[in-house]
Formats: sequence, C-alpha cells, structure tokens
Amino acid sequence: MICLNTEILKINADNIDQEKIEFAARILRNGGTVAFPTETVYGLGANALDEVAVRKIFHAKGRPADNPLIVHISDMKQLDRLVREIPDNAIKLAERFWPGPLTLIFKKSEIIPDVISAGLETVGIRFPSHPIAQELIHASHVPIAAPSANVSGKPSPTIAQHVIDDLMGKVDVIIDGGSVKVGVESTVLDITGGIPVLLRPGGVTVEELKSAVGEVMIDPVVLDKVTDHVIPRAPGMKYTHYSPKAQVIVVEGEDEKVIQKINMLTEQSKKAGLKVGVMAMDHTLHCYHADCILSVGNKELPSTIAANLFYTLREFDRAGVDIIYAQSVSEKGIGLAIRNRLNKAAGYNIIKV
Ligand code: TXA
Ligand code: MG
Repeated sequence: MICLNTEILKINADNIDQEKIEFAARILRNGGTVAFPTETVYGLGANALDEVAVRKIFHAKGRPADNPLIVHISDMKQLDRLVREIPDNAIKLAERFWPGPLTLIFKKSEIIPDVISAGLETVGIRFPSHPIAQELIHASHVPIAAPSANVSGKPSPTIAQHVIDDLMGKVDVIIDGGSVKVGVESTVLDITGGIPVLLRPGGVTVEELKSAVGEVMIDPVVLDKVTDHVIPRAPGMKYTHYSPKAQVIVVEGEDEKVIQKINMLTEQSKKAGLKVGVMAMDHTLHCYHADCILSVGNKELPSTIAANLFYTLREFDRAGVDIIYAQSVSEKGIGLAIRNRLNKAAGYNIIKV
C-alpha cells in the first residue's frame, strides 16, 4: 500500500478557520480523501462523483466492494441531481430531521457512480448537522461520499485520535474537530417503497420516525444475526463490526443477576489466565472485580451510553484485555442503536440471565 503524507488539521467547531476548510475542500475537489467529524461519528470523505477518488476510500478502509457508501450533502438543492424521485415521505422526514443523523435511501440518478451504490439501484443520502462537515461539503462544491473513518470491522471513530490510529498514512487529511456528540452512526431508512423500512437504527430513534411518518417497518437484521435465511437490505449489516481486539460477551437481564453473572464469569476467566474487562454503567461501576472496569455511561441517560460506546470499546483494547463482559441496555429510544452495535461487537454472543 502507498503511504500518504497525512496532514492533520485542528479545527475549532465553534470558530471555524475557513482557510483550513478551503485547504481540505481543495483536496476533495482534486480527488483526495479527507476524514472529518460529523455529529454521529468521524467520516472518511471523497468526491462522490469521482469514481477514482471513491475507490481510495474502499482501499484505505479495507472495505468490501459490495458495501455501498452514503453520500453527504450540505444543501437540499443538491438532492435533485442525485436521486431519481423524491417521495412525499422524504420531504416530511427531511423537514423534520435534516440536517441531522438520518440517512434516507432513494432510487439513484445516473450521476451516482456504481462504485458508490455497490451495484444497487439506490443511494443513501445524508445531510449532517455538524458545522465542520457542513462547511467542508459546502466549500468542496461536490457531494461527499463518506463511510465511518475506521478500518473496516473496527468500532467507528468518535475522536480524531481513533482516525489517526486507523488511517494515518492512508488518507490525505484528517480534520481534528474534537469529540462527536451522538456517538453511534446515522439511522438508515429505506423510503423507496410504500412503508419506510429501518435498515440500521441510529441517531434518530424509531419513535421519532414514527411520529413523523406513521408506520415504520424494522428490517429483521436490526436486532438479529444475519443468517442464510435473513439477507440484510443494508449490505453493511452482514459484516463483522465494531469489534475490539478482545472478545465481547453481552450479559442481559436485571441488574442484580447481571452483576452476579459477570462476577462469576470474571473469576472463571481470570483462573484461565485471561485479562478481563467489564463494561459497566455509572451505577454498577463499584460492583465488579475485573482487571479493567469502565463505565459506558448513565443508565438513565442512554444518550451518554451512545456517546461513549465506541470510545469505551477502543479503551479496552488500549488496556490490553482479552475478554470484555458488557451489560446490555434497554431497546427504548437510542437504546435500539446501542444494542444493535453492542450485539454486533459481541458477534451475538449474548447471555440472558
Ligand atoms: O453516521 C453515519 O451514517 C456515518 C457518518 C460518517 O455519516 N457514516 C456511516 O457510513 O456510518 P458507513 O458506510 O459506515 O455505513 C453505511 C451503512 C452501511 O451499513 C451500508 O450498507 C448502508 O449504510 N447503506 C449505504 N447505502 C445503502 C443503500 N443504497 N441501500 C442500503 N443500505 C445502504
Ligand atoms: Mg461504518
């Protein structure tokens, strides 16, 4: 692999340096790759209309070619050229949730290169709310294809250091805009048919979607493992994901039983010579005896758990643990997205107590 001279640009989201934005935008216009913060996770961007540039994203991430990319816009006026039709639901959803953590799947127009849509007839479009993302897309004058800026299979990056750890020397620019707010990726919703179908739970909750459009169907792979019988409509859902180096095991049930079970498993694993991590929550942090115990957030404030989830999984790697026992969370609101990511990180290794 060619080693690029990656430039790191620190940009303050509250006081954006336009010269730095213009520098990064020029790289995008010239067919380069730029990692940048969004409100959900960091993305790795390239000009969506430049097939050669888009291939660089797949190459840098080691991403399978059959996994399509989301195209990011910074103005509703860009939408017309990118999609074949704009259903009524799209307008309702865009008015309510854009800019924000929602990706809508449309029938694609002919200007979308096949490499983006991975052979599908559709394209995912997202209008992010992060000011740096908006300024960068606006200054580049092109729609920006951007998957999460991690090496394929790893947890998505929520701070620039994660991007540096994964992609240094593989991309042209990494914009450091501090830590992201939401922490899990955008919700992916297919609106090409009648009733909208949730393909990936994310920053916008199912409850919020339903309040905007009424009925929403949930693709079976959102909570269950992909099997020969269940083929995901979002190709990305079939791959191993969000995996730290350590094995993850989720323990689900009432707090008291979960704590008991995790402590028992911890003892067993320690006896077997393993270094054990426990992903606790604020209220259970003092209940465990593992080698590395980290709180992922406050049970009563699931948004804190979403914000810390990927960061915490990467911290266990830094601590060098062999196995991580993790408490599960409720499916309500953003909890659905958290459970989806956590269960995938665990390869659906879930113990119910
Ligand atoms: O929050 C996010 O969405 C972040 C930031 C950077 O915007 N991006 C992101 O992209 O998470 P990525 O590539 O890591 O995940 C995109 C997901 C994958 O599961 C992919 O298969 C699915 O969306 N997807 C993309 N285009 C699709 C399409 N046309 N039809 C069905 N699923 C699609
Ligand atoms: Mg991703």
